[in-house]
Amino acid sequence: AAVGKGNYRHFMEKELHEHPVVLGDTLRQYIDPASRAVALPELPFDPVAVPKISFSACGSAYLAAQVGRYWIEQVARIPVDADIASELRYRDPPLPEGGAALLVSQSGETADTLAALRLLRERGQRVLSVVNVAESSMARESHGTVLTVAGPEIGVASTKAFTAQLAVLASLALGFGRARGTLAPAEEARLTAALLEVPAHAAALLEDSSEILELAREVAQARDVLFLGRGSLYPIALEGALKLKELSYIHAEGYAAGEMKHGPIALIDPAVPVIALCPSGPLFEKTASNLQEAAARGGRIMAFTDAAGAPALRRFAERVVVLPAVDPFVAPILHAIPVQLLAYHVAVLKGTDVDQPRNLAKAVTVE
Ligand code: G6P
Repeated sequence: AAVGKGNYRHFMEKELHEHPVVLGDTLRQYIDPASRAVALPELPFDPVAVPKISFSACGSAYLAAQVGRYWIEQVARIPVDADIASELRYRDPPLPEGGAALLVSQSGETADTLAALRLLRERGQRVLSVVNVAESSMARESHGTVLTVAGPEIGVASTKAFTAQLAVLASLALGFGRARGTLAPAEEARLTAALLEVPAHAAALLEDSSEILELAREVAQARDVLFLGRGSLYPIALEGALKLKELSYIHAEGYAAGEMKHGPIALIDPAVPVIALCPSGPLFEKTASNLQEAAARGGRIMAFTDAAGAPALRRFAERVVVLPAVDPFVAPILHAIPVQLLAYHVAVLKGTDVDQPRNLAKAVTVE
């Protein structure tokens, strides 16, 4: 049956509101709700013996892969590469015997990712695809598939499929960590519980987006916007910038917060809003001090954080949006939602074609 917009103005708005359900449905596939233990499907490689994991993907799926890299390295201690699929073949990285290739794609049809899949297979890698379409080309050509349970995504810019990809990758990281013994049982229980709470937090966050709408009114005036984050929030800063450019045609850049002093700080002036993803946790102090440097140079800081981080940021930030407090491990999933919402609201204010931005396609089938 054809998918409708229901009571929403755009498919994107509807799909943003599906985050909680999609996250819950996807997590239930890989985490047993009764025992709260990760239950991975059969994989085409042994996570205990695998020497390396190579991610390849495009667009937002590539950014999900970058978060996956942080997670897998952190809890499973497996060396991980993450490549833009169209760059992989030219980089021609050395690939170890028995290595695993992870392809991430909503459609399972993106030509660059499919070409990377074929190359990685030819080079003897064991290929696992993380796709949203079970009958896709990537699913067919892989040794194994794990599905995101996002349902059909109509808006050209990925939203719910992106957070579903994150849910799968977080589950895989925990499953790998358990199999390898790099994740202590108590730590596994804590992180699994944190993950299972994400859908409810996502629902709470979507209930009232008035603060994000206010922020959107300011961002809509800007010509350039900077997004900053550290660690697993850095790829989410990139996602915020990507979504803003593709939907509202405002120039935006995502930067690792610590790298700002090596270039982008030259752009700082009151006309360039700085959107900071700065949850409390081990990286908070360093990120906050990078932001303070930007504020001292006239930068207008608009920060996303939680209740623990808010007081310190309020000392110099123009706006602080407080998100639900979560374990730092799951913070990238929760921060992805407001940056997507922000881009959505800015696009609506600017009157652009939200579901079908100019020059873009839902699945790009040319290399
Ligand atoms: C297009 C879409 C993006 C998406 C990318 C990868 O560029 O506009 O939102 O992230 O393709 O698509 P895939 O289907 O491979 O995830």
